[in-house]
Amino acid sequence: MGIRQDLRVIRHMVFRRGDKAATHADRMESFYNAQAQDYDEFRKRLLTGREEMYAAVPIPQQGVWVDMGGGTGWNIENLAASIDQIKQIHVVDLAESLLSVAQDRFRQRGWENVTTHVADATMFRPPEGLADVVTFSYSLTMMPDWFKAIDNALAMLKPGGIIGVVDFYVSRKFPAPNQKKHGWFYRGFWPNWFAIDGVYPSSEHLPYLNYRFEAVDLLEAKCKIPYIPLVRSPYYRFIGRKPVN
Ligand SMILES: C[S@@+](CC[C@H](N)C(=O)[O-])C[C@H]1O[C@@H](n2cnc3c(N)ncnc32)[C@H](O)[C@@H]1O
Repeated sequence: MGIRQDLRVIRHMVFRRGDKAATHADRMESFYNAQAQDYDEFRKRLLTGREEMYAAVPIPQQGVWVDMGGGTGWNIENLAASIDQIKQIHVVDLAESLLSVAQDRFRQRGWENVTTHVADATMFRPPEGLADVVTFSYSLTMMPDWFKAIDNALAMLKPGGIIGVVDFYVSRKFPAPNQKKHGWFYRGFWPNWFAIDGVYPSSEHLPYLNYRFEAVDLLEAKCKIPYIPLVRSPYYRFIGRKPVN
């Protein structure tokens, strides 16, 4: 991707935020509709650790996988080698323009067991009733009611079902002893910087995931952000299991 396309995406990210839209769904569509075709190329460099998160989730044999805030469906490419082993994958998003890119992708691949849904992650339930896996890739930070989205995932998962999350975050000032601590600059700078785009890295997502699920795998790391020199943004990968009892 050239600098021109980068600038086009950045211009849309900064000036087409949809702040005047009436609902969250309208805001998402307004933010994404002009950048849907360029989305994948730019996000490859912005959203670190997505492949690793999808690779860390055990494939549910003939099970149901719900990808919340799944956008263009780029992440489902990570499941290509196992797609036949999964009964049904539901890609859920509020931005129709991104889902239409996803639909084209799945049609071209001939994946009939992957379907898209214009729906809210806080309410969507798979037609099968229960899910074996629910994933959130850089989507929780765009969901104002992220706690409802996590509760909804917990409710739809079978006992022992898996949640996978990768996203930006910052630590609490005083995190749990086994978790990373970020200094005041990180805790102040990144939430404010990302908020320009309606992305809200939080100190509370990870503690809430740890509270609701049994942690199977946790990575806390930092990644480069295109065009921001010197500093790196904290992100995490969380794989958790719904308690059986
Ligand atoms: C940064 S994008 C990530 C897309 C994709 N998961 C990826 O990794 O490229 C965040 C996505 O979350 C979606 N989103 C935000 N709030 C949502 C909600 N309440 N329900 C469903 N999707 C939502 C946005 O429309 C957007 O597609």
